[in-house]
Amino acid sequence: MSLIPDEIIEQVRDSADIVEVVGEHVELRKTGADWRGPCPFHGGTNRNFAVIPKKQLFYCFVCHEAGDVFTFMMKRFGMDYPTAVREMARRAGITIPERQSTGPDPREPLFSAVAAAHEWYARQLRELPDAQGARDYLTGRGFDLETLLPFGLGWAPSGGAFLEAMKTLGIGEQTLLDAGLAMRKDDGVVRSRFWNRVLFPIHDLRGRVVGFGGRVLGDGEPKYLNSPESEVFHKGRLLYHLHEAKHAMRQAEQAVLVEGFFDVLRLVAAGLHHVVAPLGTGFTTDQAVLLAKRTRQVVLLFDSDAAGLKATFRTADVLLEAGLTVLVATMPAGEDPDTLVASGGLAAVQHVLDDAMDVLERKVHLLEKKGWFATLAGRRKALDRLLPTIRAVRDPVTRDLYVARVAEAVGVAPSTVLREAEDRPRRWARPASVPESGPVGPGNAERDLLHVMLHCPDRRRSVLERLPDRALLREPEATLLEQLGQVPEGVPTGDLLTTIDEAGRGLLVHLLESPWNPDTVGAVLEGALAKLDDRRIDREIRALRSQMAVLPDQEKLDVTNRIRTLKVQQLKGRSSAR
Ligand code: UTP
Ligand code: MN
Repeated sequence: MSLIPDEIIEQVRDSADIVEVVGEHVELRKTGADWRGPCPFHGGTNRNFAVIPKKQLFYCFVCHEAGDVFTFMMKRFGMDYPTAVREMARRAGITIPERQSTGPDPREPLFSAVAAAHEWYARQLRELPDAQGARDYLTGRGFDLETLLPFGLGWAPSGGAFLEAMKTLGIGEQTLLDAGLAMRKDDGVVRSRFWNRVLFPIHDLRGRVVGFGGRVLGDGEPKYLNSPESEVFHKGRLLYHLHEAKHAMRQAEQAVLVEGFFDVLRLVAAGLHHVVAPLGTGFTTDQAVLLAKRTRQVVLLFDSDAAGLKATFRTADVLLEAGLTVLVATMPAGEDPDTLVASGGLAAVQHVLDDAMDVLERKVHLLEKKGWFATLAGRRKALDRLLPTIRAVRDPVTRDLYVARVAEAVGVAPSTVLREAEDRPRRWARPASVPESGPVGPGNAERDLLHVMLHCPDRRRSVLERLPDRALLREPEATLLEQLGQVPEGVPTGDLLTTIDEAGRGLLVHLLESPWNPDTVGAVLEGALAKLDDRRIDREIRALRSQMAVLPDQEKLDVTNRIRTLKVQQLKGRSSAR
């Protein structure tokens, strides 16, 4: 016997069309996004058997048989797993490299035990009268059970029923212990690991259940209890829902990363499929690599509280190190994806995702909001906060863009940023570096323009005419710029406070109170416009880079050349701005 490498199994599964394969044996009809037919397993006549192409999965709503294309072949034709894979590979024309095996996988008993446990737990949730509390809990959170069943959720009751059932199936105590399904207490008694918890099955890439995440109903400690590390379950090397999300991820050319199980369930149930979550541990390099194999871009959709932000930036650094592009989506305060879908549907989430911002930009925004760029000492600190992100980036073009952006925000030369980024962080204090007048100069382009508009009413019109499109301008300055643009020409500066709405007034006062040298107005105006032009070029380069992945090779060269031209243009702009 020889083993089939995991990558090949994945490749075979990816190339097999489950609708086509099942459709050869079951009469399927399209129903919405899915296909329905009579179930071949319990011999039903109604169309209760669903094939869900988005998930490459089948599920019977009556007998609850479920699985992927391989499981279908195994269950329908009694094939074993390798035979099913070989059969599908043959159809897809994929050659399986023969690799001498050292015998059967010694973990096989653990996989079987977890699979048996999974089936048993799922049945308890569906059928057990005592699981009514769990079913009520789930419906109370706004899930109808029909939606949840294909996710394989389960219920672990208290008492000895689980261990009894496993014993009846001939699964030995040691196997249960090794699989993390049971534990031995100090007094030597073996009891089941999970009781009184709703269980989320956690799958490996092949779609085998390898462990569980268990949630208490309502309050209780710990809120979630996961399977312990075992031969088959490694928290740091798995992502919840990846076995299904990977298909959608390739299509969407993006992965959405959320914090928890319920966030995933809610989003998938609402129709967003390319979503995964870590398993309650810090995000690992292994997990980043799992995503990097399938996509180039990850959107982080974490809570926007302090803990969520901390996790966001820590996770982002790990993803950047794996060469991924990282965007940060910001939810309204107090929301998580679960509550956001519950209140605003998929549209609300889509909106938040569409507004996702590059992780570095998000950091700059936050520092700006805290006023760190207002003082020299603050800028120094801000630079230190931004450096880890620059250091983490592996993609050279992104790195260039980040260096330029940080230089602009902090007001130092890009070469300074680069030098600092290459220095390993030092323990001892060092004198704050003197801000050089960098190519795009210190300060904030929007604020400079606002200054000009405020202090030189006769220039208002020319500023407005030369503003780039709104998308290039940052908030809150952009709104104020727009509002000032609508103020009739003759209104004196002193009267502006009454015409600007409350949101913009604070900023307006701040600007009016900050120092202003009327002799520099020409230079400030040109400098600000140059900065915005620099930003426009950045954006164009970024857009070109993101198209790159999907272009045929000949066109890639064109785009590369275009990027190079833009960079030259940008450098020229910067040197003339000096
Ligand atoms: P959250 O507490 O944000 O989870 O933790 P959640 O999904 O929003 O929980 P609900 O909505 O209250 O049910 C995020 C993730 O962190 C892990 C779990 O993986 C959870 O999904 N976690 C959380 C633990 O592992 N243990 C805990 O005690 C809490
Ligand atoms: Mn939640």
